[in-house]
Parts: sequence; C-alpha cells; structure tokens
Amino acid sequence: MSSSNNKSVSDKTMNESKSEIKSKEKLIIFDTTLRDGEQSPGASMTRDEKVRIAKALEKLRVDIIEAGFPVASQGDFESVQAVASVITESTVCGLARALDKDIDRAGEALKAANSSRIHTFIATSPIHMKKKLRMQPDQVVEQAIKAVKRARGFTDNVEFSPEDAGRSEIDFLCRIIEATIAAGASTINIPDTVGYNMPMQFGELIRVLRERIPNSDKAVFSVHCHNDLGLAVANSLAAVSNGARQVECTINGLGERAGNAALEEIVMGVRTRNDYFSCETNIDTTQIVTCSKLVSNITGFPVQPNKAVVGINAFAHEAGIHQDGVLKSRETYEIMRAEDVGWAANRMVLGKHSGRNAFRARLDELGVAFGSEEELNDAFSKFKALADKKHEIFDEDLQALVTDASLNSESERIKLVSLRVCAETGEIPNSSITLSIDGDEKQAYSEGDGTVDASFKAVESIINSATELQLYSVNNITSGTDSQGEVTVRLCKDGNIVNGQGADTDIITASVKAYINALNKIMFSTDRAHPQTR
Ligand code: KIV
Ligand code: ZN
Repeated sequence: MSSSNNKSVSDKTMNESKSEIKSKEKLIIFDTTLRDGEQSPGASMTRDEKVRIAKALEKLRVDIIEAGFPVASQGDFESVQAVASVITESTVCGLARALDKDIDRAGEALKAANSSRIHTFIATSPIHMKKKLRMQPDQVVEQAIKAVKRARGFTDNVEFSPEDAGRSEIDFLCRIIEATIAAGASTINIPDTVGYNMPMQFGELIRVLRERIPNSDKAVFSVHCHNDLGLAVANSLAAVSNGARQVECTINGLGERAGNAALEEIVMGVRTRNDYFSCETNIDTTQIVTCSKLVSNITGFPVQPNKAVVGINAFAHEAGIHQDGVLKSRETYEIMRAEDVGWAANRMVLGKHSGRNAFRARLDELGVAFGSEEELNDAFSKFKALADKKHEIFDEDLQALVTDASLNSESERIKLVSLRVCAETGEIPNSSITLSIDGDEKQAYSEGDGTVDASFKAVESIINSATELQLYSVNNITSGTDSQGEVTVRLCKDGNIVNGQGADTDIITASVKAYINALNKIMFSTDRAHPQTR
C-alpha cells in the first residue's frame, strides 16, 4: 500500500482528511438489521428488543432504520409502530410488497414517525416474474407504479426495489425504474437478492442504469447486496464508486441466508479509504462495537473472532514481527484505530458499589430504557447479584443482564426455578431441575454425558418438546474465569428455527436458561409471513 493510501492512522493525516471530506457527497446508510437481519434463521426479535436496537442505531447515526415488514404479523406491525414512536433522529422505514394491503399497513405502522419512508418492491428477474409472481412484465410495471403512487399517499419518501435486479434484464430494469421514478419514488434500490453478482459487473450495472435512465437524477440510487458468494461488501462498494449514494446493510452482516453487507465494513471501508471514495457517511464510528455486541447478544448470533472491524481478533497482533512493528509505529500494520470503532469503550464501567442512578445512566447511554420502576428495580437487583460474583462489570455484562432480565420476564411461560448438577470423577454426571410451567412447578432428574447434556435431558423429560438441537455454543462475554458465559442454543421444530440465549457466571445455568428461552420461543411463537413469498 502506498503511503498516500495509508492516511487514516496518524492524527495529522486524520485532521487533513477531515477538512478534505467536508465537501464530499453524502453516502446514506440504510440499516436493515431489524428487517432483513431478522430473516436470518432464528434471529427473530421481540418488540422491546427491536426498540433497543433501534435506539442504538440512532445513536450510531444511521440515516434510515428499516424497522420491519408490518403486514407480516401483528407483532411486526407493533414493532414498527414502537420504533416509529421513539426514534426522532433517523428516518423509520417499513417494507411492503407492491400490494395495497401491504402499503396501507406500512403507512399505518409509521404514522407516529418523525420522518418515515415506505419501501415497496416487486420482483423483476425473468425467473421470479415467471415462477414466483406468474405475471407478465407489463403487469409488473403497472403494479410497481400503482404501489409507488399509493405509498406516496402516506409519505413523500418512497423507495422502490426491483427485487432480484442482479439477475434482471437491463432494458426491463431501465423501463421499470424510469416509470417508478416518474410515479414518485425518490430512492431506487438495486438488490442483488441472491448474491450472484461480481463487483466489477455490479458497479457497471449501477453506472449504466444511472446513465441510461432519463430521469435517474431525480432519485438516489441505492444497493442491497446479499453475501452468498462472500461479495456483499465488495459489490456494495463497487456500486458506491459508480455513483450509488445509499447502501443497505446490517450490523454484523446479519441477514437472509449468508447475510447482507456488513454496515461496519461499508462504513470503515469508505472512511479508511477516503482517498478513494468521493463520499462520506454520517456514522459515529465509535458506536460500532457497542451495536455489534448488542445485536449479537439479542439475536444469539456470535461474531466470528476474525470478523473484520468487530471480531475480537480484528486488532490483535499475534506475529512477533507485527507486534514489533506496531510498537514502533502503529501504521506499519494497522489501517484503522481500534478506539475509532469503539473497542476502547470496553472498560470497566460499574462495580459492586455503584448505585441505581449510575446503573440507570449507563444503561441509558447503551440505549436501554426501562418501561417501569419495577423493571429497573428487577434489573438493578440482578446487577447487584452479578456484582457480588464478579467485581468488574463491563458494558457487555450489562447488555447480557438486560437481555437475560427480559428473557425471564412475565411473558415467558416456562421458567427455571432451580438447578442442581453433580459432576465427579468416575461418576455419571446428573442434573435435578425444577421448572415452572404457567405457574405449575415440575421436577425432574436425569443423567447424561456431561452436566449440560444431563440438564437438557431433565428439561426434556418435563417438556417433551420434540425439537431438534441444531447448535450449542458458549462464548465468554468478557475475559477472565469470573466472566459471564453467554450460551446460544438453536432449536428446530417442523421447519421453524429459533435461537435461545442465556447468560450467567455459571455456564451450566447459562446453558439451561438458553435452552428454556429457545423452548419458549419455539413452542409459543406466532406465525409471520416472509416478505419474499407471495
Ligand atoms: O434481498 C432483497 O431483494 C430484499 C428486498 C426486499 C429489497 O430484501
Ligand atoms: Zn434482502
């Protein structure tokens, strides 16, 4: 890398680049963690969890939050409504197929928003039009125009997406985009729905569309790339260098199948290579790690250690030669500063002697608001219990504690009452458990290959869930043996997949909490529609 490219590290060059980028165009960051991210198998979130994430996204200064797909279910509708009523800085967006009922539902859910957008879409690739929609191209254009006009009845901020644009015919794309801009769409989003495109090709597609469509200057061009070939970020950045000025992305790259473009990689790519890109985002990058941890904690999707920007190893230098270089001058091997993405914020924040006000204030800073004094008191007593076991409490502990408090809330029908495990060399591990089901206490004893296995078997002997355990993973939330263990359990039943989470300083307890959380979700959850079915 030439020295002119390696600008972002020293303070001097940072100040230079700040003044340079003042006149740059804006790159709009559209976050779809709460909508496309939620389409990851098992990543569904409750209304309160969505509100927590939305507040963190607002603090991160994302421009647009796609809060959900209101027509999918009553729960989705209420989540979008709740996000719309608390977010004031970011625009709140609802997804709608190009159907009257979807658009009306989105318009209704967004009523309370300070600034709202309706995102409507219809598939345009030959395969989707023929096999999924069973519609002629002319009908698809008509329906798209009608949808945009109807959405304009609710807001003047309307986005249109030709779904599967990455496999659509260019002439047809030009036709439908020109027509939807004329009908009132101010953002045109080009999705690579199945992650099929190559960066050069996708960048070229954006350039050609902008050049060929006569009214292209009346809309912002956006991209929405999936990661099936691991190219979502590369394709999005190729589009940006060809004039796209909105990127749709998710925290940690969460999303349908292999996921979407990762917000943190897009933002840091554009910022770190400000010598290359002629645009800038409005993101407060110091909030990135907090958001990443929050989303991982709520959805139960761990972040891989070597994940760019937010992986625990992203700034760790193992090789001696690298360590030596970094000590002499950090630019030798670092192109970004860990503290610029929020790693340094990860310090001890509270301890045993911290009071309720300090606790509330810190959670407020993390975007967590309590619905009532009772909720605050409950979380505070859990915090005190944790502080007794673990003298340093970090932000990650607080996030886990709040998630854990909501997991064991009144709405959970199955609750853990008590657990006793026995593991002794030469003896068969066993577990005795008491659960409360709708208030009725039931006990069971089981043996197993280990204490976790014995405990899960004991739970099953009470519940008989007929679920399949697809994943069991343990992560430590912070470092040290007194750290809380965060466990994710993925269960599948009749094709429905859920993730359950649990946190505790004892990993057997964390495991049982996670298992019970997953059971609550899978046994008592309501059905919701998928946006891309018809
Ligand atoms: O991947 C996709 O095409 C989508 C659309 C709804 C924009 O998520
Ligand atoms: Zn998508």
